[in-house]
Amino acid sequence: MVRDVKAAKTTLDPSIRITVCDTAEGAQALVADRIAATLVSGGVTGHGAVLGLATGRTPRGVYAELVRRYERRELSFGEAWAFNLDEYWPLPPEHPASFTAAMRRDLVDRVDLDPEHWWIPDGGCPEDRLAEHAREFEARVVATGGLDLQLLGIGRNGHVAFNEPGSPADGRTRKVELQAETLEDAAAAFGGVEWVPRSAITMGLGTIARARRLLLVALGSHKAGIVGRALAGSATPDVPASLLRGHPGLEVILDRAAAAELPAQEGALPA
Ligand code: PGA
Repeated sequence: MVRDVKAAKTTLDPSIRITVCDTAEGAQALVADRIAATLVSGGVTGHGAVLGLATGRTPRGVYAELVRRYERRELSFGEAWAFNLDEYWPLPPEHPASFTAAMRRDLVDRVDLDPEHWWIPDGGCPEDRLAEHAREFEARVVATGGLDLQLLGIGRNGHVAFNEPGSPADGRTRKVELQAETLEDAAAAFGGVEWVPRSAITMGLGTIARARRLLLVALGSHKAGIVGRALAGSATPDVPASLLRGHPGLEVILDRAAAAELPAQEGALPA
């Protein structure tokens, strides 16, 4: 049998920092530690940390942990700035299934982050203003001094934010069309796949790659296959997350289930 050369690459780049935690809760606590350390550092500008936030099931436990630490007065978002990766379009921000509403419920309304210091793409933006909105979003990231730490999940199809397979490595914030697997994964939140918006506004891979540090997080056995392809397969636009592998500040945090299809090597350290 002739093996697909692309699929045959099964080594991990030893320069990628990968931590495998025994449990999802352990992984989420470690991610919360990284965010807390970034908050305390004040970011490279010294004017407050600039965080890149993500939505989806993966970061919810991280935000719950950050809220607990905030309530215990162990950390503050008072000086911080934050940008969210993406939002469905068209979708009013008030819609309960919007990423805007999810971020408010899970974090923004529960900690001392100044709402004026938080940006998320506007799913209610009229079509004829989208390009301008995307340019403004990029400009705001730059104006804050750039992202100190960008939190990232990974979709079952390898997307990061809503950069679906085929997305360019140097892409910027823009409107994109969502692919079938992504629509299916969102169906439960919208009460059926027919209600999921077909498009989204997303930071591009190029925007994301300008962050000083990237924290890619995956939890659960349903992510094991794509994590293996993203980290140990070929770097290809077919698996957008694989295009971030060369980033010098990339760190990957997994639970054991999500790490199950990684080739064994010394780079994967137990937490
Ligand atoms: P999830 O989504 O955290 O809900 O699995 C991840 C993603 O699609 O980026």
